[in-house]
Amino acid sequence: MIEVQNLTKQYGAKTAVNNLSFTVNDGEILGFLGPNGAGKSTTMNMLTGYISSTSGKALINGIDILDDPIGAKKNIGYLPEIPPLYLDMTVKDYLNFIYDLKKCKLPRKAHLEDVCGLVMIKDVYNRIIRNLSKGYKQRVGLAQALIGNPPILILDEPTVGLDPKQIIEIRTLIKKLGKKHTVILSSHILSEIQAVCDRVIIINHGQIAADDTTENLTKNISTDHKLIARIDGSREEVLKTLKNIPGVVSVVADMEREKGIYDYEIETREDVDIRRELFKRIVARNWVILGLKTSEMTLEDIFLKITMGDNVVINTKKKDAEAKAAEADEKAEQYDEKAKATDAKAEEYDKLAEAAETHEKEDEE
Ligand SMILES: Nc1ncnc2c1ncn2[C@@H]1O[C@H](COP(=O)(O)OP(=O)(O)O)[C@@H](O)[C@H]1O
Ligand SMILES: [Mg+2]
Repeated sequence: MIEVQNLTKQYGAKTAVNNLSFTVNDGEILGFLGPNGAGKSTTMNMLTGYISSTSGKALINGIDILDDPIGAKKNIGYLPEIPPLYLDMTVKDYLNFIYDLKKCKLPRKAHLEDVCGLVMIKDVYNRIIRNLSKGYKQRVGLAQALIGNPPILILDEPTVGLDPKQIIEIRTLIKKLGKKHTVILSSHILSEIQAVCDRVIIINHGQIAADDTTENLTKNISTDHKLIARIDGSREEVLKTLKNIPGVVSVVADMEREKGIYDYEIETREDVDIRRELFKRIVARNWVILGLKTSEMTLEDIFLKITMGDNVVINTKKKDAEAKAAEADEKAEQYDEKAKATDAKAEEYDKLAEAAETHEKEDEE
């Protein structure tokens, strides 16, 4: 498990990473998505103890990376943006060197064989790293991270510069690794994160702009309530019929898709699902529905919105926090009322006590 608390990195006047807080649970594959310069590498370098933070904390399986760097690093396999390869070494020599460097205790031959099998570099084991293709070099980099079998893998843009086939291979491999390791993977490519990760943190200008499952992100943010229906029927008549469905706010006919067939963009009120009613009314007119889909915002739309400076902060956790704050406020109000009631009672008692005292005095007199 990785716990990041208010992590900040300042380069002079420039804040590269600004007060990041998040947790990564065991077995999760977390995607770190953000444009170039967002602060992904800086964050990863702090998590792995490669650079220190200006302020804030990073705990790796409960160990503070700055308090006990060696203890924390034992839990991490790191593939930096530029893999730390010694190009003049053979794969075999290099991996043995890393094995020694990490003071690995696993049986050497069997472990190195396992790792090379996993990342599929057995066939280049005796080759000099310089002469390998970029895809192979990247896999040697991954092998280096896997030596010692660390529970956490941190991979900085592992597919950058690879060709499509190599990208798919590396992605498949990461998915496989995700079954046994906790993985943080950074990328500026959205489809990559979508293909590999369970959860995504979108980072922009050193800050978290979104933190959720890929699925939830697309679902929760979709503020539009739009349906796209492809209907075979007379355009004007169809428009009229669609507009009459309760809950429909507006309808626009898109371009002609096939002869006499249009896509209709239907905007509806938030709380209604018109699909069934739409179906009935179209069929009643003997028209045909050739397609019907909700037009959700894709992760791409969201990413662009966030990173193009639309100033959207999408954070469902924030929403939860707001809801919780509202709840707490309500409770506080209830307490206030109770306190007021108690005060009133106390006052009443005081008055009674006073009256009793007066009675007593009267009695005495
Ligand atoms: N050593 C450094 N000195 C000064 N500025 C740096 C240094 N490293 C990174 N930066 C700056 O910090 C910001 C974040 O960089 P980085 O973490 O590499 O982003 P990413 O990995 O998301 O592309 C960038 O603006 C970059 O120029
Ligand atoms: Mg980077």
